[in-house]
Amino acid sequence: MTSVMPANDLDARLDHLIQPDRVHGSLYTDPALFAEELRKIWATTWVFVGHESEVPEPNDYVRKKLATQDVIMTRDRDGEVHLLFNRCAHRGLQLCGDAKGNSSSFRCPYHGWTYRNTGELLGFPYSKGYGGKDRLAGLRMESVPRVASYQGFVFGSLAAEGPTLEEHLGAAAGEIDRLVGLSPQGKVRLDAGWLAHRTQANWKLLLENETDGYHPQFVHGSIFSVTGSPIGALYSDASTAVTRVLGNGHTENDLRPEFRRAGEPMRWFGTPAERLPRYVAAMREAYGEDAQRRLVEGAPHVMIFPNLFIAEIQVFNIQPVAVGECVQYSTAVQFEGGEEINRRMLSQSIGSVGPAGMLLADDTEMYERNQRGAELLSPEWLDLRRGVGREEVDANGFTVGAATDETGMRGFWRHYKSMMGVS
Ligand code: FES
Repeated sequence: MTSVMPANDLDARLDHLIQPDRVHGSLYTDPALFAEELRKIWATTWVFVGHESEVPEPNDYVRKKLATQDVIMTRDRDGEVHLLFNRCAHRGLQLCGDAKGNSSSFRCPYHGWTYRNTGELLGFPYSKGYGGKDRLAGLRMESVPRVASYQGFVFGSLAAEGPTLEEHLGAAAGEIDRLVGLSPQGKVRLDAGWLAHRTQANWKLLLENETDGYHPQFVHGSIFSVTGSPIGALYSDASTAVTRVLGNGHTENDLRPEFRRAGEPMRWFGTPAERLPRYVAAMREAYGEDAQRRLVEGAPHVMIFPNLFIAEIQVFNIQPVAVGECVQYSTAVQFEGGEEINRRMLSQSIGSVGPAGMLLADDTEMYERNQRGAELLSPEWLDLRRGVGREEVDANGFTVGAATDETGMRGFWRHYKSMMGVS
């Protein structure tokens, strides 16, 4: 077997390891590369953390992850949302041990330092030992350098400078709008609770899979046949659905061409519109003539780089842990004003991505076997050629492939390479 590591120079290595139609297995297994990814990607770009609806009331808080960082999302008494590192400024203790709650302050259990839920140090015991109260001015729970939200989706950036959230989202913002546009009140909530799926696989394998239209017929054949779902047929050679690269590492499976062809409201949801009379009526009342289009086209299937996956009725939040480990958090989308469909979205989510669900368990089996295979020495490469010869550029300038093509993966790797500093 030939060596593929020409030098210690990371740029040269990556240039060799990431090629337009294949990538090297070590990209998923090299701990040194994972450390570089944390520095060059996860510490610079916008990372999805949670949703404003998880802290609806003043002083609500919830523990979250931002890459490997333990953070607390708080809502202060004035309604502003903050992301604070969960670390005491005294000797670095993890401050908050609860998953969520409501409090205007956090008190460190070690020596009693207390902080407001905006991060400001409120007090500490026995101040004479420090020569007075003012001597610790400037110490606080540190905030994530940049926090911004879009349609209630909260993102954090560990970099003080860089593109704005809206610049980062680019065309993917329209996909979030599409989801929100299925709420009769134009608002979604992600407050149904999150399931955490610890996965023994590199985070990039999950990102690649989320808009891989080649696998569903095989990996998810059992759930499609048990439920009689028409979704599997959307991912076939005969499908008019497309895979699209939206730029900035974002990719989607756009299933709308198939749903438009069928022209049936709620086909995307797999439940006839007659079974959702109150939801459909509320949509028609809210959006008039445009309601039909929304109900026919349905929700997006989009992977927003690097960690927010919207899979129609579920949202996934992928956070890396180590080179061969990540956690995928999932929750059911809830539409404001859509109680009738919300119950179904919750039960469908439990059935597909819950602890005994039939969908994510199959994907996870593939992620973990993919990781174990990538750890083997030969053959060294993962192939990405599917659909290379039939890609097109659409009217908006985005690269588009067929439903089962690896167009999304190639788009992901182009962005990955640029973020890692390789031109
Ligand atoms: Fe928190 Fe000492 S480590 S008060």
